[in-house]
Amino acid sequence: MKTLTEAALYVLLILCFCSHSESATALDLLHNTAVSWKGTLPCGQWDCECAFSRQRGCCCVIKQLSELEEATFIRLIGVWEGLSRLNSQIEEVTAGCQIAFTAAMLPMTACFGPFTSNVSVSYQSVSLNQGNGYNPALGTFTAPHAGLYCFTFTAYSKVGNVDRLYQKLQLMKDGQLIASSWEDNRVDSEDSSTQTVLLQLRQGSQVYVELLSGRQLCGDTQSYNTFSGYLVYPFTEE
Ligand SMILES: *[C@@H]1O[C@H](CO)[C@@H](O)[C@H](O)[C@H]1NC(C)=O
Repeated sequence: MKTLTEAALYVLLILCFCSHSESATALDLLHNTAVSWKGTLPCGQWDCECAFSRQRGCCCVIKQLSELEEATFIRLIGVWEGLSRLNSQIEEVTAGCQIAFTAAMLPMTACFGPFTSNVSVSYQSVSLNQGNGYNPALGTFTAPHAGLYCFTFTAYSKVGNVDRLYQKLQLMKDGQLIASSWEDNRVDSEDSSTQTVLLQLRQGSQVYVELLSGRQLCGDTQSYNTFSGYLVYPFTEE
């Protein structure tokens, strides 16, 4: 309790010396209270006699106070600059970073393919497209933000007894082959496989799945052929 009172007086003392005439009445009151204080004052090296008995604004601690004020001001500016920098870094890193999509091929009883060239698969049934990176008309994902992404696709096909499973899907990034999944099988008539990859993408990079020329996906009545991806964490592009 005593320490608290002392601390309060200490603050009052500083207030009395730092403030100017605007709040004279309140300060006079504080000043008078301080002057009439009977206990010991924790002034340390400061000249308490001067602080409380003579005119306000006298020499006692004015030098130390202005040094303290200056140092506090400079440190506050430093802290403020640090906070602003941190704030813009956080905004840069988190802006528009909820990116995820999941899409599936529409159910089909017949076959997709074969074609005479590699054809990108348009997974048209979109159940999630956060950040609008996925375009179902083209089957292409365009990275809205640079970062590390995870992509998964499942290749499923079911053929009758007469035909053979002959499929090959490849995951492409900007025209470059990344991963594939294939089947050339006269024994099974139904099969599926799944590929997952992690990819570093620049903003605007495109990722899609191609069906290779001459191959086909058949009998997927349950939309087992899916393509999905999400941003694991963003990068800041230099
Ligand atoms: C289709 O993909 C295959 C396998 O990646 C590749 O060898 C071939 O050059 C591609 N065809 C075209 C026209 O790009």
